Amino acid sequence: KNAKSLIVGNWKMNGLRQDIDQILAIGASLKENPIDGEVVICPPATLTALAVDAVTNLPVKIGGQDCHAAKAGAYTGDISAEKWKDIGAKYVIVGHSERRESYSEDNISVRSKAKAVLDAGLIPIICIGESLSERDSGETLSVLTKQVRECVPEEAKKGSIAIGYEPVWAIGSGKTPSVDDISEAHSLIRHVLTEEIGDRSKVTPIIYGGSMKPSNASEILAIDGVDGGLVGGASLKAEDFLSIIRAS
Ligand code: G3H
Repeated sequence: KNAKSLIVGNWKMNGLRQDIDQILAIGASLKENPIDGEVVICPPATLTALAVDAVTNLPVKIGGQDCHAAKAGAYTGDISAEKWKDIGAKYVIVGHSERRESYSEDNISVRSKAKAVLDAGLIPIICIGESLSERDSGETLSVLTKQVRECVPEEAKKGSIAIGYEPVWAIGSGKTPSVDDISEAHSLIRHVLTEEIGDRSKVTPIIYGGSMKPSNASEILAIDGVDGGLVGGASLKAEDFLSIIRAS
């Protein structure tokens, strides 16, 4: 594998101040027993600065869950990539399917957000994935091709990005695609990414998300072309998340 392993915990709208302890426990375990790869936690915005302080001297990076495409301005409730950088975040998730669904984000807005993250010197985790109806009608590969083409900005030819492949129907559902389906999707994504950004594709982690848990992590993470995981529910408790990390 060329790309380094990347395991991302996306807490979504979960977690209170007391849950910083989970991040400390993950960091302490990784410090004592390091892994060859990067571990990132994306807590809700209210906890991000606290989380950054908590992981000083620990091998864990902190990320945001979304950003606005502009640097600053009159956008009540929004957070720009520059603001994430200012507090010490290193990654920003963009285009998560929950954002696409609840806020009608399309590929074009995801691309401008990814560009904003790169411009700020941070790493966008660009999420793509087919819906159940797209899968059922045999459109999975064409949807993924279009998403990679439309969501990955030009700037990714120079800066670092990661791609999160999350079949929408697998998120929070307990269902996962077969090993062959995951492998096929990741190899298609790598192929289209190479057409878009050339050699940088080789060092771009393409990570799988959707109902990853301690019991299926080693099987999924062993699939050729899977460079890591984007974990939701199972990233909330240090014990579960660590067992996924240790399976990588
Ligand atoms: O960002 C994470 C994904 O949406 C996966 O969520 O692990 O709860 O299915 P999940």
